[in-house]
Amino acid sequence: MPVSHPKQTKPVAKLSALKALWPFVRPYRVRMALAFVLLCLGSATILLVPLAFRDLIDFGFGGHQQAGGGLLGSLSLNGHFIALFGLACLWAVTIASRYYTVSWIGERVTADLRSAVYARVLAQSPQFFETLQTGEVLSRLTGDTTLIQTVVGSSVSMGLRSVFQFVGGMVMLAVTSLYLFSLILGLMAVLMLPIFAIGRQVKKLSRESQDKIADASALAAEILNAVPTVQAYTQESREALRFSERAELSFMTAIRRSRFRSALTVFVITAVMGSIIFVLWIGANQVNAGIMTGGQLASFLIYATLVSSGVSTIAEVWGDVMRASGATGRLLELLQAEPAIVDSAVPQSLANAGSAEISFENVSFRYPSRLQSAALDAVSLVISAGESVAFIGPSGAGKTTLFQLLLRFYDVSQGRITFNGCDIRELSLQDLRGKIAIVPQDAVIFSANALENIRYGRPDASDADVIAAARLAQVEEFIARLPDGYQTFLGERGTRLSGGQRQRIAIARAILKNAPLLLLDEATSALDAESEILVQQGLNAAMQGRTTLIIAHRLATVNKVDRIIVLDQGSIVETGAPEDLRKQSGLYAKLANLQFDVN
Ligand SMILES: Nc1ncnc2c1ncn2[C@@H]1O[C@H](COP(=O)(O)OP(=O)(O)OP(=O)(O)O)[C@@H](O)[C@H]1O
Ligand SMILES: [Mg+2]
Repeated sequence: MPVSHPKQTKPVAKLSALKALWPFVRPYRVRMALAFVLLCLGSATILLVPLAFRDLIDFGFGGHQQAGGGLLGSLSLNGHFIALFGLACLWAVTIASRYYTVSWIGERVTADLRSAVYARVLAQSPQFFETLQTGEVLSRLTGDTTLIQTVVGSSVSMGLRSVFQFVGGMVMLAVTSLYLFSLILGLMAVLMLPIFAIGRQVKKLSRESQDKIADASALAAEILNAVPTVQAYTQESREALRFSERAELSFMTAIRRSRFRSALTVFVITAVMGSIIFVLWIGANQVNAGIMTGGQLASFLIYATLVSSGVSTIAEVWGDVMRASGATGRLLELLQAEPAIVDSAVPQSLANAGSAEISFENVSFRYPSRLQSAALDAVSLVISAGESVAFIGPSGAGKTTLFQLLLRFYDVSQGRITFNGCDIRELSLQDLRGKIAIVPQDAVIFSANALENIRYGRPDASDADVIAAARLAQVEEFIARLPDGYQTFLGERGTRLSGGQRQRIAIARAILKNAPLLLLDEATSALDAESEILVQQGLNAAMQGRTTLIIAHRLATVNKVDRIIVLDQGSIVETGAPEDLRKQSGLYAKLANLQFDVN
């Protein structure tokens, strides 16, 4: 199943992309309805204000309230002002409560969206992360969701309010003076076309600018993880330059977008204001000629202002909505990314769950990102339950790859791998991975204390179990010397530990998991000889009754295993008990002679 790769497929922002937000908004439709009602109320109020003004001017000042009726015709001058103030209060309350409701929806939807995207990304297989940089995922999780928040949490309601204001204003304009209204309509028809043309450009540049920002933060994320190396090679200024080049690129795109947007604003404001002034000029002449009253012209003026501010808000909101639809498109790519590795539709249940018997049947594998060379080539191998097997061979031989396939981080290109006789593709990932404890080549430490780091192997383990595992892995030896013992915070990525200490934490974690299959990938490579012997004793205890696969470069650490398998360039070249292989004159004997002679 192909992984959608966001950097390769960059669909242009489509308004329809926003539809994808519906599942996130739907749960809050009651609140949305409430916001909508408040919106209608607020808009109705603001549309009444000019009428109140009209009556105020025509009847209030003139003192002949009884004359034309009017909206507030029967009120005194004082009454007019009180009514006006009442409208203002109603308006304020509806605006405030709508603001609260809509912001709430915006924040809620964004939080839900972030969690959904994150969960989806976590479900992706390693292949996904070979192509998509983590920095880019982060920028989408934060930047893009913030754009959406703006739209859901304010722009949409602003836009709707403006639409109401616009439509209601237009109706009232028509009611007030059909002649002046038709003039305005004619002018607007001419002005719409250029507005849409510029708007399209803004939309295109928005997506580009977001992409550029994502590029820059992807770079920053990578480099920040490698600051010591950057400094050791004194590359700070070069890295700073590299980042500022990207930042510059995003600046330029953003500026181009802003330029179009400014052009849009200038055009809209000038055009709209120009039309209003023109129409007012005609209107003033009409008042002079006695065709309309001063109050009518005043209310016409206010309605026209409402309409024009409505239009400019709509233009602005349109830009936001376009930006958000770009952002949604980008998030959608993450939300809809299908993991390359999925559970089979009807997972088989694992037989003999307490033990692990493995077989590789004619397994060939090419990494998806490097299809031209085979990482494993026709590997066949049976490992019986409880056996301990060591894999040795030159760097790049494919040892770690074997483990990755066993864990089903990738699916084999050919052949099959079975676990207790069942093709691992037919097991659920949960079942399969639950039966495997791995100490990876690079021990991973989370930013938590030692206890929690080890407990990661089995979250429900008691403190006593955790400490027992820590003892076997010789963690206790150095933990005792840390300021807060097991509660000591280990720093982000375990930066406050030595390499060997990190490895021992990782070993303790794997021991704690207590799984029938134990995978050790250079698990003790960073330890000194003495600690290695001690850890090895702990591991030997943990290996009792378990199937264990060990990758090791130092042959001394694997001279007690049942069987050694020598890999070279993706193929098994030798296999046998350590002492037998030593007698042959193959790769193992060669490596052994080199290593043991030196020692
Ligand atoms: N994610 C990947 N994408 C593409 N090629 C990869 C990937 N990971 C490993 N390879 C390649 O696959 C081959 C086998 O790698 P593997 O990690 O299995 O080697 P190894 O035997 O574990 O080596 P080492 O002893 O150095 O850890 C190597 O040529 C490597 O370059
Ligand atoms: Mg390796």
